[in-house]
This record gives sequence, structure tokens and C-alpha cells, in this order.
Amino acid sequence: MALTDFDLVLFGGSGDLAMRKLLPAMYARDVAKDLPDGARIICVGRQDASQEEFLHTVEATSKPHIKSPAVTAAAWAKFTARIVYVSVNATDSGSYAPLVETLRADPAITRVYYLATPPHLFAQICDNLKDNGLATANSRVVLEKPLGRDLASAKQINAEVGKVFDESQIYRIDHYLGKETVQNLMALRFGNILFEPLWRREWISDVQITIAEKLGVGNRMGYYDTSGALRDMLQNHLLQLLCIVAMEPPTSISSDAVRDSKLQVLRSLKKFTPTTLAQNIVRGQYRAGHVDGQPVPSYRDEPDAPEHSRTETFVAMKAEIDTWRWAGVPFYLRTGKRMADGLAEIVVRFKPIPHSIFNQPTSSFQPNSLVIRLQPDEGLRMNLMAKTPGDGMRLKPAELELDFRESFKAPRMDAYERLLLDVLRGQLTLFMRGDELEAAWEWVEPILNQWEQDDTMPIPYAAGTWGPAAASALIGRDGLQWREEALPED
Ligand code: BG6
Repeated sequence: MALTDFDLVLFGGSGDLAMRKLLPAMYARDVAKDLPDGARIICVGRQDASQEEFLHTVEATSKPHIKSPAVTAAAWAKFTARIVYVSVNATDSGSYAPLVETLRADPAITRVYYLATPPHLFAQICDNLKDNGLATANSRVVLEKPLGRDLASAKQINAEVGKVFDESQIYRIDHYLGKETVQNLMALRFGNILFEPLWRREWISDVQITIAEKLGVGNRMGYYDTSGALRDMLQNHLLQLLCIVAMEPPTSISSDAVRDSKLQVLRSLKKFTPTTLAQNIVRGQYRAGHVDGQPVPSYRDEPDAPEHSRTETFVAMKAEIDTWRWAGVPFYLRTGKRMADGLAEIVVRFKPIPHSIFNQPTSSFQPNSLVIRLQPDEGLRMNLMAKTPGDGMRLKPAELELDFRESFKAPRMDAYERLLLDVLRGQLTLFMRGDELEAAWEWVEPILNQWEQDDTMPIPYAAGTWGPAAASALIGRDGLQWREEALPED
């Protein structure tokens, strides 16, 4: 669907996200000829900078983040001609006049307000847009994470933004949903007949979802230390992945059909009690170690780290979904910073065969598994048992591999490119609905509360490892291993 003319307004227009992700994403889409002639990007910032000064900042700060396509002088000039800098104090309604003057009044022009600001500003910016007559029927608002820090604050954001914009105008970003493989998981599940009959407790033994990063907190300590891995990664990205794996087939790809199915999963997650919580969740914090052979500091020695921080940089948990399809199937979720490797993957393990007809024991049959790889490479791998060539009948594990890069030569899109295009087209399927957001917070809240009340520390783990040994013990208790522990090096 071709885009029609738009004004994309970036609040936080000179901030980190705009410079690192949003402007590079728009540049890539411009070069791909997705942007119509009348597409403009209006960057809102507090600094009293001239247009020329701002473009200078974009050149110095954003351009280096453009990895592909390579920047050419002509394409850069065309792209930057779309950018308008407007100096507005987002919290002061009286300062919005330059924005009012800049925006085009034609109702055929889509307006998108992208709030790449701290969440405590969302309500006020929405009110100010309304007061200045800018919250029109052709407007959409995009909310960046963190979308609250608990259920009450998420509800407050939903209520306050909801006073100004209708739910159908609100785009809550979870950039994991913009990743190609996540959408491919939907294609796999609902574009093929093969898996659906097996996609249930009768045939699946367990599911592992891992998002591991080699990076530490970098220069984001101010935010991260008040958040931690549970809020930063699990409440949103990991739970969204879990939803896509576990949801019932939606009746269509329409936004409400998909989001209804995801909501049902979130509402069916088994609630933790203080006892089950202590048994099924491990939290850790990295200490000094080596990543890629380089020494890296302990979390507590990172710049601006509070001395006795109790913030977790690692979480592993065993979750369950109380439905007919999934009852009793463990979903192991894990995320951490400064891990041994940077990867995101989902592993669906099927049950073992019931009986071996061959001259080898049943235990020598590796159960089938499906590995869905989001990053660093994108692909699917099905592990099967196959006969080894030659005489006799010996079976060994073998792999069916689908490498998306190899199979589809089409250029890749970054998650933000995809999601920005969806906002501009008015497609809500890959964005969280307000009730989903609240259901996710409702489920994690007992964990947050418990951690706040008890004074135990996260378990230390050396940077460059797979986290505390307790995480291996958590899954080991069920006779299982995390995938990287179970497999020889590929
Ligand atoms: C963000 C988190 O949402 O996701 C970061 O705030 C994290 O802490 C990032 O590093 C990971 O995203 P990706 O796409 O690099 O896996």
C-alpha cells in the first residue's frame, strides 16, 4: 500500500532514539522510494536551534548510524530537505505556536506524533496537542517504551492518552514485533497446515525463549537502574514473543483479531504466588568478566551505577499458560545483558518418540525441535532424526534449515522501518493494544512487588557467561537444559 503525504512529528526529535533509529529508518525508506513527495519529518526539540544548526547535528549524530543503504550526497540532500526543526517546550502549551504554523492543515495529510520522550511527558504532550487544536481525526500517536513501570502507571498512561486519542489512533511500540522473524513465526504457524495439529500440550514438551545480549548498560544507567531486565525486556519483548508462539489462531490478520488472541494468552498466564515465584524465577546481576575476549566491568562499576544497586540484569523464569492447549507445558524465558553471546531465539521442543523400533534405545533419539532464530541471523531450523548413510540402520540427529537471507534475497528492513511504515499506513496489528499492555503488567506485578519487599540481592554472574548457575538449575530440575548447554558448538 503506497503511503500518502504525511507530517511525521518526532517529539524528542534531537534525542538518542531519533538520531540512532528513527531518522536512519526514514532515510532507508526514502531511498527505497516508499516516501511520497509530500512526506515531511518535523523534529521537535527544546533547544533554540536554527534549521541549519539542527541539520548539522543530524549530519554528525544520525548519519553515522545509517548502515545501509550507503549514504550518497544526492539521497542525503533529498532526505534532509524533508526535515524541519521546530523548537517547542513540549510541556508548555503556550510554546506550540511554531508547530501549529508548521503542520499542514489539509485533512488528507496524515499526522503522526511520535513521542520518543520519557513516559511521564506523554499525558502532557497529548493535552497540549489537544489545547492547540492539533489532535485531529487524521492524527496518530506513537508511544515508545517504557510504557509505564507497573500496572498503575500503565493504566494512567492509557487513561490520559485515551482522553485525547481514540484507541484506534494509538500505536504502542514493541520493536520486537517489527522483527522479520516474529512475523515469519505467524507465517509458519498460520500459513502451513503442518504445525498446528502438533502445536499443543500433547506433542510439545517445552518452549524456550531467549534474548541474550553481549552489551552491558552502556550510557543508559539512569534509565536502566530504575528498570532492570524484568521491566526492560521481559514484560514487553519476551511476553510478546510468547504470545505469538502460544496464541490461538486469530480469525484474520486484522489488528483486533491478532490482539484479541494475544490478550487471551496474557490473561491465561499462571499467576505467581510468593512460593512459586521464589521457585521459578532467577534474577542475576553481572560482575566483571570478559566478552569477546575483552575485559568488561561489573554492573556496579559502570558509569553512574549506584553503589549497592539491586537491579537485575538477568532474569530466567519458568512460566505456564493455563489453557487446554498449553496446560503443563513449561515456557522458559530468559534474558540478560553481558551474556556469552548475542542472540534471540525461540526453541519449541517436541515430545520424545514413545518407542524405538530400531536397534538403538529410545533415549538415543533426540526429540524433534524447531528453532526460530530472530538474531543475529534470521532463520528456522527443524531438528530431526535421520538414517546415517551406509549399511545398517543407525539414526542420528540431522537438521532442516531455512535461512531467510539465503532463501529470500529481498533487502531486509530494520524493525523501526517496518513499524514506522505501518504507523504511516494505519496498520495496528504489530502494536500493543491498551488492554494487552495492562494484562502484561498485571502478570509481572507480583514479581516486582516481591522483589521490592525482600532484601535479597540478584545472584552475581560473570560477564560473558550464560548467567547464574541457578538458571541452569531451574530448567535442570525438569530434566532439561538451555539449548546452548544441550548442543555441541555449531
Ligand atoms: C530495548 C531495551 O527495548 O531492547 C534495551 O531497552 C535492549 O535494553 C534492546 O538492549 C534490545 O533490542 P535488540 O533489537 O537490539 O535486540
